[in-house]
Amino acid sequence: MKKIIDGIYYVGANDRTTQLFEALWPIPQGVTYNSYLVAGSEKCALIDGIELSELEHLRQNITEVLPNRAPDYLVINHMEPDHSGAIAQLRTLYPEMTIVGNAKTLDMLKGFYGVEDNVMKIADGDTLDLGGVTLNFRLTPMVHWPETMMTYLPEKKVLFSGDAFGAFGALNGAVVDSDMDSDRYIPEMYRYYASIVGKYGIFVQKAIARFEDTPVEYICPTHGPVWHDRLKEVVGIYDRLSRYEGEDGVTIVYGSMYGNTGRMAEIIAGRLAERGIKKISVHNASKSDLSNILADIFRYRGLIIGAPTYSNSLFPPVKAVVDAIVNREIKNRAGAVFGTFAWGSKAVKELTDALSPTGLLVDSIEPVTVRQAPDSAAADACRVLADALAATLQ
Ligand code: FEO
Repeated sequence: MKKIIDGIYYVGANDRTTQLFEALWPIPQGVTYNSYLVAGSEKCALIDGIELSELEHLRQNITEVLPNRAPDYLVINHMEPDHSGAIAQLRTLYPEMTIVGNAKTLDMLKGFYGVEDNVMKIADGDTLDLGGVTLNFRLTPMVHWPETMMTYLPEKKVLFSGDAFGAFGALNGAVVDSDMDSDRYIPEMYRYYASIVGKYGIFVQKAIARFEDTPVEYICPTHGPVWHDRLKEVVGIYDRLSRYEGEDGVTIVYGSMYGNTGRMAEIIAGRLAERGIKKISVHNASKSDLSNILADIFRYRGLIIGAPTYSNSLFPPVKAVVDAIVNREIKNRAGAVFGTFAWGSKAVKELTDALSPTGLLVDSIEPVTVRQAPDSAAADACRVLADALAATLQ
């Protein structure tokens, strides 16, 4: 347990055991499931639950704050099981605790856990008085699920934001950014956003707009540090990411079975550097994790994708990246493609067909297609492609 400010306590837990978050995304630095306890003069509310495996840590932390009583309320901002997984057990531990959620939350609560008694249905804008502290509920659907909401404490200027403004990475002692070196969480914030929230940019924008005129001094997300000193910076990162606004840099993603497509990627990267582009991130799609590739694609405005033809189709690791780009409706990128084939060309056509409808490709940049291995003419064509893309970034 850690006190954040008077009357607000961190009672969440680190997970340094799970390998893949959502059974998809590597978390080498772990992850937190943040839960908070808000104590008013009359009532106490637990804000956000926890993943089932960390129930005992949550229980111990709650007991440190409330040694002789249960919380009066559990406010569920988000029903994904990394936050709701222990609800059935919490109901058994604290049968008198009322579960608070909106209509969609309560529907999911019944569906996931069969819980439907001792619940309180709230609507957008409703408040709950804890005695000198008010919980103000604001629905923010699709950040990251349809039932998602945020809880604001006007007296303390604290926002419990759910997944928004979250980051991968376990906490190493401190909870609030002002008490730690929080730099390590910034790249993990990009990776978290790109992996988990990236499809829902328009809804993140709506949520940010809703709180534009709301004074907030602490953001308490469901993952990663509590933001205080870096609050504006973190909101700015989420704002830019959710607007798909890229920095001046280039992500190159390629697949290569025997090095020929990879050779083209290296030539392109070298030429971009000669043209003064300093932020260049090259990923071999067979090796880089998808979350790292997506984080860079969200970060940089330039995007170049290359692949060999494999079984008369697009090389599967690159196809997975393209599918993830299309799924996340990534916009505002200056893109180009290149590829190879041994006897029948398909990769470049499939890349073009998949990415053209997204508006990511620069129409005037000709794809480079190479038969078997790049010769000097092919190398020149790669440099022309790099020059054209560099020109779009200047
Ligand atoms: Fe951390 Fe969408 O749950």
